[in-house]
Amino acid sequence: MKKFGIVPLLALVASTSGLALTSTTAAQADELSVVCSAEQDWCDLMKSAFEAENSDTDVLMVRKSTGETLAQVRAEAGNPKIDVWWGGTGDPHLIAAEEGLTQVSGVDTSDLLGWAQNMHKISDGKTVGIYAGALGIAYNADILAKKNIAPPQCWADLEDARFAGEIQVANPNSSGTAYTELATFVQLFGEDEAMTKLAAVGKNVNSYTKSGSAPSKAAARGETGVSIGFMHDMVNLASQGFPLKIVAPCEGTGYEVGAVSIIKGAKNLDAARKWVEFALNADWQSRGPEVGSFQVPSNSNAKVAPESPDLASIKLIDYDFATYGSSDTRKRLLSRWDKEVGDPNAQ
Ligand code: G6P
Repeated sequence: MKKFGIVPLLALVASTSGLALTSTTAAQADELSVVCSAEQDWCDLMKSAFEAENSDTDVLMVRKSTGETLAQVRAEAGNPKIDVWWGGTGDPHLIAAEEGLTQVSGVDTSDLLGWAQNMHKISDGKTVGIYAGALGIAYNADILAKKNIAPPQCWADLEDARFAGEIQVANPNSSGTAYTELATFVQLFGEDEAMTKLAAVGKNVNSYTKSGSAPSKAAARGETGVSIGFMHDMVNLASQGFPLKIVAPCEGTGYEVGAVSIIKGAKNLDAARKWVEFALNADWQSRGPEVGSFQVPSNSNAKVAPESPDLASIKLIDYDFATYGSSDTRKRLLSRWDKEVGDPNAQ
């Protein structure tokens, strides 16, 4: 809603006093509150590009991991401070939809690829896919060579004692990336075996980070030997010259469909709808690579960067978004993860 409340009073003063209204008092910008769960540089580009196209709107944006954002949206249910949630893995967006925390955007999905339309369908129109990316392993080739550690090729390798203290991964409570990993292990190995394997990998983990891309950044800088994360984030770091090698695990791997949702009770619904249309626009989706975001865009007319991992050439599981994007499943898996794997540094 436009904040025009003050204008009639000023207009009255102006007309009775013979003063001319200045442009700053006549037009006050709308504010659109966006939480961005993609990489910071892409968040910043989207904010400035949206503001350039919509000069009457100021975007107030913060970057938060996907699980953290779901927690905020839940805590603010009924009195939301966020209008739009853009980016981040799709499962928590689906969960927010299931819990009635987001609303139908009414956006046209006809140009979108099947996996993006699928999110829209599962959520009855309350979320929609904006990009896709596969999960993988990265290692710092210099560090592993120096320590004489054979690089990993499979998820199972990460359980090996040669990686003791060498692996970094995010915490699935806060990070959508790490929840994708948890759900991927469950779909590959079954729930009990997945917990056993994650606990075995956990013995080699030096730190569970809050955000999903932090472990690969640490591996790029040589602060850890191995990371688990999205391959497109690893490609970005490798393209900057870091000695990072990317592995598509031999057992197969899961993937994310990043999403955008309008929060139920959004204060600025018109601008929120414009944001969703903008986020699905082929031209804007094609600009991710300018800022190192190499996901596969969801609009079939958007350009795919040559650096983007080719999903067709990776052994992908048939990720079950309806199941792993449901509230009950996430709650059960996170509670098992906390008990059976666990972050020793979590309070
Ligand atoms: C990075 C990736 C995104 C992903 C996001 C999830 O920003 O580039 O594709 O959606 O991580 O973030 P999170 O911190 O929730 O794991």
